[in-house]
Amino acid sequence: MTTELFSLQGRNVLITGSSRGLGLALARGLAQAGAHIILNATNTSLLEERRGEFVAAGTPCAAYAFDITDPQAVEEAVEAIETEVGPINGLVNNAGIQRRGALEDIAEEDWQRLLDVNLTAAWRVAKTVARRMIERRQGKIVNIASLTSFGSRPSIGPYTAAKSGLAGLTRAMAVEWARHAMQCNAIAPGYFATDMTESLRDDPEFDAWVKLRTPAGRWGLPEELTGAAVFLCSEASSFVNGQILYVDGGWTANL
Ligand SMILES: NC(=O)c1ccc[n+]([C@@H]2O[C@H](COP(=O)([O-])OP(=O)(O)OC[C@H]3O[C@@H](n4cnc5c(N)ncnc54)[C@H](O)[C@@H]3O)[C@@H](O)[C@H]2O)c1
Repeated sequence: MTTELFSLQGRNVLITGSSRGLGLALARGLAQAGAHIILNATNTSLLEERRGEFVAAGTPCAAYAFDITDPQAVEEAVEAIETEVGPINGLVNNAGIQRRGALEDIAEEDWQRLLDVNLTAAWRVAKTVARRMIERRQGKIVNIASLTSFGSRPSIGPYTAAKSGLAGLTRAMAVEWARHAMQCNAIAPGYFATDMTESLRDDPEFDAWVKLRTPAGRWGLPEELTGAAVFLCSEASSFVNGQILYVDGGWTANL
């Protein structure tokens, strides 16, 4: 019963930005729960390498290289996936970038690019997939938010604006699409050890601050996001909608 509730057997799940980091860990974890994984990133050769690893491990997996900021590429890719793989039952909007700098100095193009990738593209991929989910009356959307969905620190203004927007977008998706039997939620990771945070982990002062500020006393491991993702992609969350689930070692509970 418990296994069935959380099973992703027979479900096709598209994970954007899954060539490395949290996206790749999510893909591995969702595959373990039975999902047929559809990988995405912009780097075709790396993506193909990753797909090969899944296939070698006996895990069904497809890979589609496209840039989520390109509307035509998104439309074509979603159409191709639905034709070649099957209906997309779940979407994890994970792809994201960071551009650090003081708010007063950040270049227009850096601001715009960050908002495009981290916020606008999540809406774009979601609406393209959601049109089909609405027709089928089934769909799970999981947006990867952040601690910056509710707070900030100096140097990450555009990222904070985008991730706060993504939390709002998650609620907007839920209130518009829940009546179509879809569930739309977000996972907000605390500080996790990935390429994106490598420079932060290499900075002894920042590393110490994260360990002190996080009640668990350490950085999160990418595979520790799996449980939340399986829950939000499975039947277990059939009446959970518009929630931001913090997976942060207790960060948001800490004064
Ligand atoms: N690492 C953390 O501590 C942390 C914390 C909170 C939230 N997040 C969020 O989790 C997500 C993944 O972060 P990560 O640390 O694994 O980052 P990462 O830089 O290691 O991986 C990002 C992935 O997104 C892909 N990507 C970037 N731009 C793309 C585009 N235009 N089209 C398609 N794919 C694109 C990259 O190729 C890569 O596969 C991001 O949304 C990030 O903001 C990370």
